[in-house]
Amino acid sequence: MQLHIPVALNRCVALLTPAIEKSNSPIVIDATLGMGGHTRALLEAFPSLRVIAFDRDSAAIAIARKTLHDLSERVTIVHAVYDEIAVTLENLGITAVDGVLFDLGVSSLQLDDADRGFAYSQDAPLDMRMDQSTGLSALDVLMTYSRTDLIHIIRLYGEEKFAPKIVDNIIKARDAGTLKGTKGLADIVKESIPAPARRTGGNPAKRTFQALRIEVNQELEVLTRAIPQAIASLAVGGRLVVMAYQSLEDKIVKKAFTEVTTSGTPLGLPVDLPNSAAHYEFVIRGSEGASEAEIAENPRASSMRLRAIERVAA
Ligand SMILES: C[S@@+](CC[C@H](N)C(=O)[O-])C[C@H]1O[C@@H](n2cnc3c(N)ncnc32)[C@H](O)[C@@H]1O
Repeated sequence: MQLHIPVALNRCVALLTPAIEKSNSPIVIDATLGMGGHTRALLEAFPSLRVIAFDRDSAAIAIARKTLHDLSERVTIVHAVYDEIAVTLENLGITAVDGVLFDLGVSSLQLDDADRGFAYSQDAPLDMRMDQSTGLSALDVLMTYSRTDLIHIIRLYGEEKFAPKIVDNIIKARDAGTLKGTKGLADIVKESIPAPARRTGGNPAKRTFQALRIEVNQELEVLTRAIPQAIASLAVGGRLVVMAYQSLEDKIVKKAFTEVTTSGTPLGLPVDLPNSAAHYEFVIRGSEGASEAEIAENPRASSMRLRAIERVAA
């Protein structure tokens, strides 16, 4: 298995530091625990910090429990989807937190485990569920969705212009009973794309696999619900840091951040009207990417966009 390297680790710790240091008993939410790289770094940097960590994948949680064993007294691990932040905090009796971190997408653990069905390079069942205990698998989606819905998903979530041809060939295979594992799907995609288009942009199956993964895990809907909960959970001075790896997720984050950092005062007035100043400010104007040095060490970091805001008023 490829060694897991947490992305932008030092930068995330630095962005959360002022928010953590202003509190006597700081609490941070790690919305995407994974193998616990970011949580470990934060707990080691701040001895009074408590982390509430979410992951929807029980395999990731089992590994994180082991790797964070020495720090277990200061980390509460929750097996849940991150759109359950609000209800989880309420259940724990926590009214506000000092930081929230999202490191979106799949982990290298999930990608490297061929049986999970995320990778097109090895043959495996078409699963792609981050939480294998619930929901439709990729095969269920491919076998039961209409042609129109499949085209919509692959075009929108995969930004794939050959979606209609791919879906026609998927439907032929499903009608013939030959639609099976990840390799079979990757071959169908390859055959559906004209030869000149196959020569650029990496493996042609990448976009279709991304689209199915987003649909199977309802990634965009869940993120759209989760970001406002994370924003609302911050104490004054608290910070929200998000790393997205594909443009559809980054757009959701950007839109939510722009809304809450925009004053309600009409444009052109020199000062904010009473009660209409924004309660949040950008910590990073726009977004940041990873450094070239980090990308050379960890290619996954190349598509990362990092955004951060701070709550400045109650
Ligand atoms: C990129 S990895 C996080 C890696 C982590 N920062 C580390 O250092 O090990 C993303 C993790 O978030 C989890 N995840 C993705 N979407 C989720 C969601 N909607 N709710 C909860 N966990 C989610 C995945 O199962 C995966 O383990």
